[in-house]
Amino acid sequence: MAKIVGTIYTTHVPAIGNAIRNKKQDDPYWKPFFDGFNFVHDWVAQVQPTVAVVFYNDHGLGFWLDALPTFAIGCAEEYKTKDEGWGIPTFTDFDGDTDLSWHIADALKRADFDVVTCQEMYFDHALAIPMELTWPGVQRPIKIVPIEINTVLFPIPSAARCLALGRAVGKAIESYGKDERVLVFGTGGLSHQLEGERAGFINKKFDLDFVDSLPTNPEWATQFTGEEIAESTGTQGVELINWLAARGTIQGDAKTLHMNYHIPISDTAACTMVQVAA
Ligand code: DHB
Ligand code: FE
Repeated sequence: MAKIVGTIYTTHVPAIGNAIRNKKQDDPYWKPFFDGFNFVHDWVAQVQPTVAVVFYNDHGLGFWLDALPTFAIGCAEEYKTKDEGWGIPTFTDFDGDTDLSWHIADALKRADFDVVTCQEMYFDHALAIPMELTWPGVQRPIKIVPIEINTVLFPIPSAARCLALGRAVGKAIESYGKDERVLVFGTGGLSHQLEGERAGFINKKFDLDFVDSLPTNPEWATQFTGEEIAESTGTQGVELINWLAARGTIQGDAKTLHMNYHIPISDTAACTMVQVAA
């Protein structure tokens, strides 16, 4: 049977892509962020995942406002990364785990999640950068199941719905017959706003309250509407709903093995966390 080996949560700022290309990892600006991945590398080497299930939001590369699914799952054999306009490098192609994708898609529809299934998907920085941070410059030892959540076009799905989606995905993974070791990712966040009068807005108190709530009380964030989360965390801080979906895949309590919070990376309060079942 498949097993969830743990969850990784991380920011997905495009500038990280250029820092990687220009080998800036030890630069004083970047070091506090990249050092947060030393633990991740050691831990991932120990738990040896075979599949990554990644909750992320597309920023206008794979989907745009003309057709933007609330939830979509990739069911392709192969995925390519592309730069959606930030001038960042592209990364090597990803192998899809089509069997697990279809298994999850099937389970989600039976659980009343009307998820869009995609035979072709391009990955922007939201998916490519967390993968490159986790497996820098190496042939990734995993296949991938990408799950897109709309965080761009309001109204966005509620925090409660994303947590429930994650729980349904977690159950689907646990009922999968093959012996896969599944590592779940939630990308984006934490607080940031890129445009308008509040550009540069960061809310450390809310971020840390959210981070504290995740292991044993992920319902905490479900008290807020999408608009309220945008008010508290910035219009792009709402990406934290991807984290809630990832957290939902661990049934019951979780415990935090690692957490690195650093302000700012570009316009974002950057955070990296690792959690496993308690
Ligand atoms: C930045 C952060 C994001 O989440 C994103 O999608 C684009 C840019 C930033 O801080 O620059
Ligand atoms: Fe983003």
